[in-house]
Amino acid sequence: MSLPSRVQLIDVGPRDGLQNEKQAVPAAVKIELVHRLQAAGLTEIEVTSFVSPKWVPQMADNAHVMAGIERQAGVRYSVLTPNQIGFEAARKTQPHEIVVFGAASEAFSQKNINCSIAESIERFAPVVQAALTAGMAVRGAMSCTVGCPYEGDVSPDSVAYLAGLMKQIGVQRVDVCDTIGVGTPRKVQKAIEATLGHFDVAHICGHFHDTYGQALANTLAALQMGVWNFQSSVAGLGGCPYAKGATGNVSSEDVVFMLHGMGIETGIDLDKLVDAGVFISDFLGRKPNSRVATAIVTKRMG
Ligand code: HMG
Ligand code: MG
Repeated sequence: MSLPSRVQLIDVGPRDGLQNEKQAVPAAVKIELVHRLQAAGLTEIEVTSFVSPKWVPQMADNAHVMAGIERQAGVRYSVLTPNQIGFEAARKTQPHEIVVFGAASEAFSQKNINCSIAESIERFAPVVQAALTAGMAVRGAMSCTVGCPYEGDVSPDSVAYLAGLMKQIGVQRVDVCDTIGVGTPRKVQKAIEATLGHFDVAHICGHFHDTYGQALANTLAALQMGVWNFQSSVAGLGGCPYAKGATGNVSSEDVVFMLHGMGIETGIDLDKLVDAGVFISDFLGRKPNSRVATAIVTKRMG
């Protein structure tokens, strides 16, 4: 078994992590979080989403946040865009990559973006074309690739169907998302296998929520298939407003600790990453939701 020697992490904390927070997080705090993540060595950061502020009020400051970031050379900033309105607003802020987000389950598609899977693809197609023409990269998030909060188990065939549609409209790479964290290693591998029918392994990212504590095991299972792009969230922030009970993404700190322990490079400074997690957790009035961050903070206190 040969594992990748290097992993590219996308921290989705500022977007996936904060979108579900009930208390208002000022744009300045989000910007500071992005600055701390890039200082820790993150080279891809999912900053915000250009979605309806009625649906996700926390992301209403999207343009402010994008404008406030002091961009660092070599760092790529991505944003979510569900439709043309979102794309037009996003393009003014010059992200490197836009993300269209669909679901492998019909019910989740309806709850999250108010349309069917087929309708979502129709909406995404012109957004993808416009982004590519403007020289932006395009990623496609595929939610509920193992389980759906409304429909239960999701079949690999549904994942293959969505991945095929994403490919047809020009999406360059996709996220295999376990939105509610019910995946276990073999199930996640099946979702990745289904995606491999349409995208090569370099264009597949693992996006695992840790609701049931399976995310690191699922990360390892994906690594064993050669996947080397992953998404995680500093301090384990997060949850999806349209997936009740789903907790955050696997924490970036836990993933980095595991990878470094396996001799896999990330380019990330774990201590600085822990500091970034403590910064945002202090603001939110809680401890980082990360076993590794907790252990490191405790050890520092001697
Ligand atoms: P809709 O109500 O069907 O949209 O929502 P509409 O086209 O009928 O428009 C209704 C109103 O919204 C209009 O305004 C539009 O202008 C406005 P009004 O005339 O009523 O004043 N509008 C917008 N405003 C700002 N930005 C926009 C936008 N679009 C329309 N982009 C819509 C459809 C997609 C907009 C809505 O359902 C929505 O915003 N959904 C987003 C939900 C969301 O952000 N979910 C969380 C992200 S997904 C996730 O977390 C999962 C992921 O992490 C992977 C995983 O873990 O699985 C990615
Ligand atoms: Mg997510």
